[in-house]
Amino acid sequence: MSRPAVCTLFLLVIVTLVLGRQRKENDFDVNYDESRLPSYQLPALLISADGDTVDTPEKWRTKRRPEILSLFANLIYGRIPRSSNPMLTDVKIENVDDSFMNGKATRKNVRILFRNINGRAEMNILVITPNKTDTPVPAFMLLNFDSNDSEKLDINPIHPTRLKSGLPLGEMLDRGYAFISVYQQDLIAHNEVDFDRGIQPLFFQRGQSFPKAHEWGVLATIGWGAMRALDYLETDEKIDHSKVALMGHSKLGKATLWAAAQDERFALAISAQSGCAGAALWRRRSGETLEKMVTRFPYWLCRNAWKFVNQEDDLPVDQHMLMALMAPRPVYVASAVDDHWADPRGEYLSAFHAGQVYRLFGKKVLPSLSSPEPAQPILDRQIGYHIRPGGHSVADYDWVQFLDFADRHLR
Ligand code: GCU
Repeated sequence: MSRPAVCTLFLLVIVTLVLGRQRKENDFDVNYDESRLPSYQLPALLISADGDTVDTPEKWRTKRRPEILSLFANLIYGRIPRSSNPMLTDVKIENVDDSFMNGKATRKNVRILFRNINGRAEMNILVITPNKTDTPVPAFMLLNFDSNDSEKLDINPIHPTRLKSGLPLGEMLDRGYAFISVYQQDLIAHNEVDFDRGIQPLFFQRGQSFPKAHEWGVLATIGWGAMRALDYLETDEKIDHSKVALMGHSKLGKATLWAAAQDERFALAISAQSGCAGAALWRRRSGETLEKMVTRFPYWLCRNAWKFVNQEDDLPVDQHMLMALMAPRPVYVASAVDDHWADPRGEYLSAFHAGQVYRLFGKKVLPSLSSPEPAQPILDRQIGYHIRPGGHSVADYDWVQFLDFADRHLR
């Protein structure tokens, strides 16, 4: 064998050994076993930083809620910086089709352009409103993995009351909801690592080219887009903007919870299998952990979050506190039995523990520390939950529960 061939072979062996070892370590160190969970204590929801017991809605609103919001902003998702340069926003309505879905609905694109001295960025949202009504309607705003150009948002020719993505749009419209789609990558790339494109540069101070350690990561930026879409909906007379449900799956369920926690204009939040950095509790370290997340997606959270890798017990918050920031608004959490990576049990527990704050408001909460059986949705409380058989996806079953929950709590 020639010398270069020997060297290449040697290198290949080393690379295979290193990669093989990493994969084994990764598999090996993910815990899915309830009996091997670390013991942990959740931070107290209703004791404020100065030791005061929070026992009224007033104290929650004026004292504890702002404290918790600020901890999540500075340590987990990253704060939205103040732009030092004035920002102009232009809105253009395009491609209006008032005979969409055989005349059932009107479909349009809304292009929102942001610009200032640092540059420009654009988002393009899809708005579909039912035709058969004269009054403003409530809406589902979906943070979407698919862009408006994707054929997944076209009508499914075989099931013409659905989109190709499977979304039961016909039923949503029949029940009197509008549908809004906000593409997750309009303003920031899926796993941004450079931050020289998209919306973030418009917020940089002079000389800045990267978000600071406490400034917005990818999830917070996606959530900011949802808020800007809601700004537009406030101007659309077909929509009842006081009744907008924000919904996201997985990564976008994480962005949903954080956006709706900050912006109380969202009337309802739905987290579908949002898992780590979404509904699941950090301290359980079951399935995906903070370490796994920041190794694979370093900037989904802010850089301050890195300090807590394998130090989850030092976090002054856990995700039940994020869910509690929704109070007293309705919130819904969906899990799936085989979605172990998202820690379904941890998702239930944070929804359960958030109940302490909802009780202050006299709202009905999840009844028991035990998770319900699969396909036994809890819809009649202000915090709703289901776990269904199957894995990581949004199934028909999920949409039916989301619609039923919204029918009860949004109308
Ligand atoms: C990865 C990631 C999860 C995320 C998921 C998704 O699995 O680890 O945190 O929820 O992608 O967005 O589908």
